[in-house]
Amino acid sequence: MTKGPNGEDKDAARERLRGNHVGPRTPRHHGRFRYSGKYIARRLLDQGRRVRTLTDSGGRANPFAGQVEVCPYHFADAAKLVDALRGAAVLYNTYWVRFNYTNFKHATAVENTLALFDAAKRAGVGRVVHVSITNPSEESPLEYFRGKAILERALRESGLSYAILRPAVLFGHEDVLINNIAWALRRLPVFGVFGDGQYRLQPIHVDDLAQLAVEQGRQTSDRVIDAIGPETFTYRELVRQIGAIIGKPRPIMRVPPAVGYMVGRLLGRLLGDVLLTRKKSTA
Ligand SMILES: NC(=O)c1ccc[n+]([C@@H]2O[C@H](COP(=O)([O-])OP(=O)(O)OC[C@H]3O[C@@H](n4cnc5c(N)ncnc54)[C@H](OP(=O)(O)O)[C@@H]3O)[C@@H](O)[C@H]2O)c1
Repeated sequence: MTKGPNGEDKDAARERLRGNHVGPRTPRHHGRFRYSGKYIARRLLDQGRRVRTLTDSGGRANPFAGQVEVCPYHFADAAKLVDALRGAAVLYNTYWVRFNYTNFKHATAVENTLALFDAAKRAGVGRVVHVSITNPSEESPLEYFRGKAILERALRESGLSYAILRPAVLFGHEDVLINNIAWALRRLPVFGVFGDGQYRLQPIHVDDLAQLAVEQGRQTSDRVIDAIGPETFTYRELVRQIGAIIGKPRPIMRVPPAVGYMVGRLLGRLLGDVLLTRKKSTA
């Protein structure tokens, strides 16, 4: 976390803390740039690759105007999905949903991703670089981790050449976890953690993940890689360091999951965002 691949140092971090991409034989790459996909696309474009993004978000601003082909997903139309992927050397898949929203749930993301893998196979895509999560498990009580494990297995059994990248937490300009911690530290007199807060995290800079993805897009062997950064933090340490960097060294206190969930819900309403789900608060 001290230095990013773009040369970001601690001072820069102090300042800052206030889908899918398909690459053809001449590579094309596959989402419409919410977060990590944007960094992957930037790196591919910098290398002179052709990039096509498959997305549901046709209306969102495209930071690569003119440089990236935009194509809707067509999950409900297998033939169109195959057409969208035809000619792609590499499918970079970041498609997923963080929470079970009313109109977009983990189960839908799983179903759609399975359709995407199937279409990639039929389209003759050369390789899939799939972004998963650390410790996915089909036995997990959390749907997020179960869904990720189902997708990993499907990809491994698909016959496609693959690289599966397993990050724990991403950080960078638009990240969620680090910025939400900083937001709470700025506004609240104390910071609550569940249990002893000694659970460990190895965040990776979003552009380091993108670099790894693009490197893996050029390889041929099947790989499953823990995409973790060089530094390990306990959650408490992470909060403490962020507090020190932004000049808000708040006391960190243990809170019972039920209390944390209620506070997270209240803050989420104020922010118009989801800060914490009940399942995450009890995991
Ligand atoms: N962010 C993290 O800290 C973190 C940690 C561990 C693992 N990961 C994994 O890394 C991958 C990429 O993460 P990310 O944070 O970069 O993802 P993201 O950009 O927020 O989402 C990736 C794509 O999924 C689709 N999507 C996401 N939320 C959606 C919603 N509410 N409704 C409709 N479509 C939605 C979007 O497709 P459209 O183009 O159609 O909008 C988007 O381009 C994911 O597989 C995630 O599980 C992330």
